[in-house]
Amino acid sequence: MRKRPVIAIDGPSGVGKSTVARLVAYALNARYIDTGAIYRSLGWLAEREGVSFDDGSGLAALCALHEFAFDAGGHISVDGEMPGLAIRTPAASLWASKVSRHKEVRAALLELQRQLGADGGVVLEGRDIGTVVFPDAEVKIFLTADPKVRAKRRWKELLERGEKAALEDVEQDQLARDEADRNRPISPLRMATDAFELRCDHLTAEQVSSLIIERAQKLSS
Ligand code: DC
Repeated sequence: MRKRPVIAIDGPSGVGKSTVARLVAYALNARYIDTGAIYRSLGWLAEREGVSFDDGSGLAALCALHEFAFDAGGHISVDGEMPGLAIRTPAASLWASKVSRHKEVRAALLELQRQLGADGGVVLEGRDIGTVVFPDAEVKIFLTADPKVRAKRRWKELLERGEKAALEDVEQDQLARDEADRNRPISPLRMATDAFELRCDHLTAEQVSSLIIERAQKLSS
């Protein structure tokens, strides 16, 4: 039995999971684990090391060869090196989506994610946390928002980082990735039957995180 809860926050891309998960983790003094950053880092490694995005076993072998870790601020490092913004470009989003569809990769990363959350006191954000990684999570949240609202959010993020991007392209990329995430045979993006769905279109990140914090605090009262 865990002393502190695992909080699973799942949902499609651009819904604001990272901002919300960070706020929740900060308020509850919990660790923050962005599982998408692991898939992104693996895609980045594959591109760098010339492993084909079609080679599931080759990509899984790459997971075993490298060490993924998170610092207290929730930033990922690979073998002690921080990929930083290199895993946040539109190309990196595509590589992440490509590596994440392989069952060998998902199996290789499952254990790592479970270890990262094993002691509780953690907020994990991703696509399959409440369904596959921690089906026994004490708090399960599924965030949703209109695709246009999500695309606009991603587009603004890219512009703020100084990347050039057209809103229509971001929207198209996102729809394609959503489609791939929802329809892959292994661990597709799906709301757990016991998850709480939160529609975020008209809520600020602070409002969404307050609702989640309230649910988590009810557990311990
Ligand atoms: O959340 P994100 O955009 O950083 O995720 C990058 C990719 O990784 C996305 O295409 C879906 C995939 N992913 C996944 O399949 N399972 C997770 N738990 C997290 C991310």
